[in-house]
Amino acid sequence: MEKQVNVLVVGEGGREFAVAKKLQESPRVKQVYCAPSNVGMSTVGVVPVAIAETDFAKLIQFAKEHNVAWTFVGPEDCLVDGIVDEFKAAGLKVFGPDARAAQLEGSKDYALNFMNNYHVPTARHATYRDQTAAINSVGQFGFPVVIKENGLAGGKGVVIAKDRAGAIRTIKEMFVNGQARLVIEECLSGPEYSMFVLISNGHYRILPMAQDHKRAFDDDKGPNTGGMGAYSPLPQLSSAVRQRMVDEVLKPTIDGLVAGEYHYHGILYIGLILTDDGPKVIEYNVRLGDPETQVILPRMKTDLFELVDAAINDRPLPEVEENEDACFGVVLASKGYPTKPIHGQKLGTFPLDPNVTIDYANVAGTINDLRGAGGRLLMVIGKDDSLQKARDHVYDYLRQLDEPECFYRHDICAKAGLQ
Ligand code: AMP
Ligand code: GLY
Repeated sequence: MEKQVNVLVVGEGGREFAVAKKLQESPRVKQVYCAPSNVGMSTVGVVPVAIAETDFAKLIQFAKEHNVAWTFVGPEDCLVDGIVDEFKAAGLKVFGPDARAAQLEGSKDYALNFMNNYHVPTARHATYRDQTAAINSVGQFGFPVVIKENGLAGGKGVVIAKDRAGAIRTIKEMFVNGQARLVIEECLSGPEYSMFVLISNGHYRILPMAQDHKRAFDDDKGPNTGGMGAYSPLPQLSSAVRQRMVDEVLKPTIDGLVAGEYHYHGILYIGLILTDDGPKVIEYNVRLGDPETQVILPRMKTDLFELVDAAINDRPLPEVEENEDACFGVVLASKGYPTKPIHGQKLGTFPLDPNVTIDYANVAGTINDLRGAGGRLLMVIGKDDSLQKARDHVYDYLRQLDEPECFYRHDICAKAGLQ
């Protein structure tokens, strides 16, 4: 067997938990380190490293001292801030796009220009640097209308305004709150999908598809969040529609990356709405999704280490094989999330159950005395040979918990007809 190596994962959320766990399962991996990680990671054999994800110099030093073969970067802000450029400059191997390519997520305006240049279908849109101009032309997109902060906002910088008065209020608020640029878009309607693609300089592999649930409360009510639950595969997505997404969205995107001489070795996450006119991009992200990662990685037969290792080293990419399982996950969040999540509440115990796994995220304290650390705390994930069974495992588990200072959605996957 080939030599075992150490790898480092940067990040601390549920997504990084899922990535670190999957890498630790690989026979090629000796040890996964995760910085800064969370207290739940010790449950899956990952070694936590107390270095902030923004402290690139210390991360580089750690990677050198611990013989790390490569580093997998989870969160978008590090990528936008150039972690990949700094690791490469230090002679280290790293998985993720560089700062230039990360603008595809870091600036909505940049992403829309890319889509315009390379003929990737998206909503009608315009960018405004001036409040009056934005207010004067908001009507041209019809109502409801979508108003987006230009920069990173953790999934929370998007407002769908029902009417002109709401739109004007939002525009004023965003400019007053210091936004220098706003994007205004026509509101697309149709089901929303996430496509995750591993890219290695123009070569790519599509990972299993998943559907997220962005609104905080049941029936898609409440504010947008980072995501409250997800499932994979998508029984409602035909292979013909998936092929349209590949042909009409993914291929022009990859061609654009090649034509624009992007050196992209990382994940591209394409957020899509399937409209009556076909699939259209609502956003690019330059990383895996959270909570989608937690339900797609357990469905991958392919060794994640082998896939990423091939991508980083420009070797031919292995095929991505999916297993027959269905995977379903619900996020347990702190009361008040996303607007004003409470912090520090004592959490109960999460008993072991052969039917579910727990991917920890914003938790502190110790594994036997867990405290909430704000926002999305953990995800309960079920896996079985049908989505219905996987879903039943998760809700059976959640119902027996006593977490008065937390909440979760009860209707994840309802859109796919499951109850
Ligand atoms: P984003 O941060 O761009 O992903 O937007 C957050 C959420 O807003 C998306 O997941 C969609 O549900 C919604 N959204 C964004 N853009 C549009 C659009 N043009 N039309 C309809 N909904 C949108
Ligand atoms: N689940 C949405 C995101 O990761 O942006």
